Amino acid sequence: MNHPLIQHKLSIIRDKNTGTNEFREVVNEIANLMAFEVTRDMPLKDVKVETPMGIANVQKLAGKKVAVVPILRAGIGMVDGILSLIPSARVGHIGMYRDEKTFEPHEYFVKLPSDIEDREVLVVDPMLATGGSAIMAIDALKKRGAKNIKFVCLVAAPEGVKALEKAHPDIDIYAAALDEKLDDGYIVPGLGDAGDRLFGTK
Ligand code: PRP
Ligand code: URA
Repeated sequence: MNHPLIQHKLSIIRDKNTGTNEFREVVNEIANLMAFEVTRDMPLKDVKVETPMGIANVQKLAGKKVAVVPILRAGIGMVDGILSLIPSARVGHIGMYRDEKTFEPHEYFVKLPSDIEDREVLVVDPMLATGGSAIMAIDALKKRGAKNIKFVCLVAAPEGVKALEKAHPDIDIYAAALDEKLDDGYIVPGLGDAGDRLFGTK
């Protein structure tokens, strides 16, 4: 996404000298700006409202229900930024970790709104590297009935985009930046380990 504010904020979180506090804040700010773009196709309905001066024919959101589903841990860092734009959204969680040697994802937790099949689902995770975690998270969502899914990340590797498009061709992918490549499972130039930078672990 080429918006100048998004690109500026990405430069801050890519910087290795940015501390945990600012990193967390700016990740949420980028997620907030991305939510604006991701919700661009939300359906509207025609309604009339009475202004102090008369009747206005206006449009309101048609009431489509949304679920934000972060992939743990790092996806949590994007949730508040999205909820500040879509406060009525429900939040599901999918726990996933990558094996440190093979980079294979492992699912450890799934808790979703009970009406997930009726909701537009925004799966959020800052990083799309090999694509393994995103593919498995979307498998888990589809298995539980979710039909209308978008994947929203900050930094994507070409390898991850290709793998996700192949596994789930029906999913729209939104990325703030498409980087050069993967190196030993990490995105280059990327921003390092998003979970560690968000939560101050290492
Ligand atoms: C990171 C990141 C993604 C995943 C991306 O999570 O947040 O979920 O790696 O990599 P992939 O596309 O190759 O699957 P990690 O497994 O490090 O867990 P964490 O969020 O708990 O740090
Ligand atoms: N997960 C991260 O947090 N960073 C990467 O570069 C790749 C996967």
